Amino acid sequence: MRKFIPEKISIIIPTLNEENNIVILISEIISEMKEKDYEIIIVDDGSTDSTVNNILEKFDKNEKVRLFQRQSDKGLVQSIKFGLQSMTGEYFVVMDGDRQHSASEINYLINELKANDLVIGVRNLKKMDVISAKRLFLSKFFNKFLQLILSTNISDPLTGFFAGKVSLLNKKFFLLANSGFKVLLDLIFSNKKKKIKIIEKEIKFESRTDGSSKLNSQVAFSFITQILSYMFNGMISSRFIGFIIIGGIGFIFHFSILFGMYYLADVSFYISHLFATLFTATINFLANNYLNFYDNRANSLNKLIINLTKYYLINLPGIIASIGSASLAFNLITKNPLYASLIGVILDTIFKYMISKTWIWKSN
Ligand code: GDD
Ligand code: MN
Repeated sequence: MRKFIPEKISIIIPTLNEENNIVILISEIISEMKEKDYEIIIVDDGSTDSTVNNILEKFDKNEKVRLFQRQSDKGLVQSIKFGLQSMTGEYFVVMDGDRQHSASEINYLINELKANDLVIGVRNLKKMDVISAKRLFLSKFFNKFLQLILSTNISDPLTGFFAGKVSLLNKKFFLLANSGFKVLLDLIFSNKKKKIKIIEKEIKFESRTDGSSKLNSQVAFSFITQILSYMFNGMISSRFIGFIIIGGIGFIFHFSILFGMYYLADVSFYISHLFATLFTATINFLANNYLNFYDNRANSLNKLIINLTKYYLINLPGIIASIGSASLAFNLITKNPLYASLIGVILDTIFKYMISKTWIWKSN
């Protein structure tokens, strides 16, 4: 059981480049919480603007404001879980640091914790003009899916504003692979057997006035892989599932190119396999970059090219092993291009996941 201070409220706020928002938000929270026992935990992921400086400048002496600066294992989920692990209160509140969630609604959520274990701040998706039609559709679609898996009805599972009791933070919650998208879903999933009391409260979701959103349509992909991960009882990380899905698509590409070149264009097996391997490696890189490792993805063209080059170089042993083994197999064992190429693909794949995970999209 975790140690906590009764009645104390821990407010967890992840930040990434919120220099003009976070200081105002903290001030608003301080006046909202007044004489209550609370702490504000900011988990920053190496913001490159003045977020950290601004916080230190204004709140360095305020011991209720605790700033954590993370340099590795970056990501929204990781940051929030880190904050939840560091908190000392009986209650927690998780909210965004860009003022899209209002400090004035913290107590409104907390007050419900007397009678409930988890209070979810739900946005009225129909009323919102800040949410795109695409997100609205995705939200509706995923809700249905989610109901099936979590057997809970949440009208806004993607919300980033919720409050709960520290007793919800069990071992399983922290053990769940931190590669999913939403902490809220991990929270519900890890307490699925416990019949916890959940209530929804409608909240405001303001438009962003400063800075930019870091989340985009990749959330859809990681949402699917996160839910699939729950179907395997959380034993297989959502990132691995994403890797498999993308790998599967790469597989289709590989053999389409191979057969196309070999049978239709009459190119030699070696060149066909080489070309298919390189092409698929590129597809793989791009898909993983944009979909699977979205939280550490390369944003600028420069970084993309550097990462792609790194990807080729680091995967070189796999690529060489693939081409070598496929060629050998084709020469010595089988004249069937499917089997020969398959041997190469399998060897290559074994290298890929570990390497991508450790080197290419590692937090930097
Ligand atoms: N530490 C850390 N690390 N913080 C991050 C990261 C990260 O990798 N990415 C984003 N944040 C912080 C932002 O600084 C902000 O305080 C908060 O997390 C929310 O990020 P936004 O980038 O503003 O998200 P959004 O407004 O596009 O998305 C909102 O709606 C989504 C669903 O539609 C948020 O409320 C999400 O939580 C929500 O899922
Ligand atoms: Mn936002």
